[in-house]
Amino acid sequence: MPESVPSTGTAGGGLTVRDLRWDDLDAMIETYYALYDERARGDPIGIHLFAERPSRSDEVGWFTSLYRRVLANDAVVAVADVAGRAVGHCTIATVGLEHGSETDHVGLLGIVVAQAHRGHGVGRALMLGALERARGRFEIVLLDVFANNHRARHLYEQLGFQIRGRLPFHAKRGGQYYDADEMWLDLRHWSPPTANR
Ligand SMILES: CC(C)(COP(=O)(O)OP(=O)(O)OC[C@H]1O[C@@H](n2cnc3c(N)ncnc32)[C@H](O)[C@@H]1OP(=O)(O)O)[C@@H](O)C(=O)NCCC(=O)NCCS
Repeated sequence: MPESVPSTGTAGGGLTVRDLRWDDLDAMIETYYALYDERARGDPIGIHLFAERPSRSDEVGWFTSLYRRVLANDAVVAVADVAGRAVGHCTIATVGLEHGSETDHVGLLGIVVAQAHRGHGVGRALMLGALERARGRFEIVLLDVFANNHRARHLYEQLGFQIRGRLPFHAKRGGQYYDADEMWLDLRHWSPPTANR
């Protein structure tokens, strides 16, 4: 995999956006598990989770599969690194697991930033890093976002994503339903926004 590259995003504080490393495993699991704690506290996190927190063994399986997919050129990952530790990541990966299918040009995007680092431009820098890495590999990027996840939606729209449609009752949490918006970006005609956009 290529060397890490310095972030060109707006975030300060010693942030670099780099490629995935095998030793990101623990930090990435920690960030993911923290989402379950946020949900348990009743924080309005706009990302769908499992009913129960997956086991560490499940998470190691997920990470190993992601790492393999990066090596097979079926996924790109941008990692936000502060002082040598991963504090967020953005993945764009093939929709199906079968390499070479007719949807091979479509990438599904997912992003998470550790709570303590949100709101400082890390998400934006990660999105830019992931989209740059995805150019030439994927042509269409898809994602779904809770309709009430205003921060994430703002970020995606700022970078050129458009809403394709609403998925009603997409997630059910504690008996409450949440709509999601499916968004898409045509990477064939995309260029990074200028600083003042
Ligand atoms: C969504 C997430 C990835 C964004 O990362 P981040 O580092 O917090 O985002 P940034 O600081 O780069 O930028 C967010 C943008 O949204 C804006 N924003 C912040 N709060 C907002 C709100 N409540 N409503 C609208 N916009 C908001 C910021 O001002 C910024 O826009 P700007 O560059 O025009 O000022 C991060 O908050 C996160 O991990 N959330 C939990 C998991 C999640 O929701 N993942 C997305 C699932 S689809």
